[in-house]
Amino acid sequence: MQEMNWWQRGIVYEVYARSFQDSNGDGVGDLNGILDRLDYLVRLGISAIWISPIYPSPMADFGYDVEDYCAIDPVFGTMADFDRLVAEAHRRGLRMILDFVPNHSSDRHPWFLESRASVDNPKRDWYLWRDQPNNWPSNFGGSAWEWDETTRQYYYHSFLKEQPDLNWRNPAVRKAMYDVLRFWLDRGVDGFRVDVMWMIIKDELFRDNPINAESRDAAPSNHRLLPIYNTNRPEVHEIVAEMRSIMDQYSNRVLIGEIYLPVEQLVTYYGQNLTGAHLPFNFLLLQAPWTAEALRQTISSYQSALPMGAWPNWVLGNHDNSRLATRIGVRQAPVAAVLLLTLPGTLTIYYGEEIGMTDVPIPPDEVQDPAEKNQPGIGVGRDPERTPMLWNDSESAGFTVGKPWLTVGVHYAGRDVASQERADYSMLKLYRRLISLRGSHPVLVNGSLNRIATDGDLLRYERANEAARYLTLLNLGSTPIQTFTEPGRILLSTDLAQDGREVNGRVELSDAQACIIELY
Ligand code: NOJ
Repeated sequence: MQEMNWWQRGIVYEVYARSFQDSNGDGVGDLNGILDRLDYLVRLGISAIWISPIYPSPMADFGYDVEDYCAIDPVFGTMADFDRLVAEAHRRGLRMILDFVPNHSSDRHPWFLESRASVDNPKRDWYLWRDQPNNWPSNFGGSAWEWDETTRQYYYHSFLKEQPDLNWRNPAVRKAMYDVLRFWLDRGVDGFRVDVMWMIIKDELFRDNPINAESRDAAPSNHRLLPIYNTNRPEVHEIVAEMRSIMDQYSNRVLIGEIYLPVEQLVTYYGQNLTGAHLPFNFLLLQAPWTAEALRQTISSYQSALPMGAWPNWVLGNHDNSRLATRIGVRQAPVAAVLLLTLPGTLTIYYGEEIGMTDVPIPPDEVQDPAEKNQPGIGVGRDPERTPMLWNDSESAGFTVGKPWLTVGVHYAGRDVASQERADYSMLKLYRRLISLRGSHPVLVNGSLNRIATDGDLLRYERANEAARYLTLLNLGSTPIQTFTEPGRILLSTDLAQDGREVNGRVELSDAQACIIELY
């Protein structure tokens, strides 16, 4: 795998900072907690840690409302803790990716305090101020425009009113934000995951969005209009290319973009001649129904949409979506692991996926997520997928000695790291085997994906290069399936008893079984 970069070869592991490991008993995860778990991550075999925002923040949106882009919030630790974490991660061969939130700051950011102080303040034009609102909705419910009594204008916020959007048409904003990138790159950070990359710049004329004829009445308010003027504007690509050119001034850094768009638009974020994001996050598997045919279509459409030379990536979960094992069912979670780890390109694993964590129901009076508080009862809450990592079966799951900021939920036997370490067969051990297999078989990373096909609940495809060919078989159903294979050997199966078996001709997969066969 010599010729691949670390971010191509390896696996990105998302740590939701508040929920991974608390080290000081305040019930909130922190940097020293992550430090304590680095060896766990090394053993898991991942290559890079992406940490959700750790900057000073009033926490209206749990860190996605940044008050200072170049410091650490005391709840997570100090800059010295951060530097130590980066050094210790690097010492172990792990890379560190930070969350960069350029679209909006906190309303307590000094820039916004100045901006809202008076209409002639030099920072007025750092945010989006208008005399009249248009029809753009906030992603967290209601209008995206907030009236400001002092200066008698409205300001725009794609999310909470505590998260005013920055004006990316202003060169001073760009310069300030690019300085932020340099600040962290100079400290040794290996890359960024850029929050809502496709939203950063808005229509210059602030035109109203058209009605979405397909929206249902019960849909969240931001789905009732087509977001064509407030997101995915053509000018965004110039900004992404500027960010990329900064990354390119440093060696071996990665630019990842959070982008929820249909595949044809998503891939435009690789940029002209691949001068955009290295990895526009591919969330297609988060939205695909869990059927063999839907997955076949998803994989094929992504493959055929990828520009020449673009590096693929796949994501099964993150802190904004219901957990995988809840979406597709606990029985199917191992099948999803085999799918993910045999897809081409860079993979992202959300903390806890490797032990099959499920969504934790949050009682109404314990809801934390502002998106849900603003729009209760319509299923937009994200707390269930953000609950503490389950390290063991103790009361607070080994996450904290204090009271966890979100409940750890009911304990299910075997669904924690310690129990899975002890078990002969567990999700954790399956993930470790899959990650190590991928590490030792580069064709699973950069080989071509072909001969993808379905037969009822069976999904199959091959990964190949000149030297080797591997067949992935996945049973997405709950009854046994028979299929055929050329002569080969089962390299790995979710059914341990099958490992190493020679196969030729007919093979049977029990319900929810998946395997990887090395073809001779
Ligand atoms: C996307 C982040 O992933 C989400 O958690 C956050 O609420 C919004 N952007 C706003 O920053």
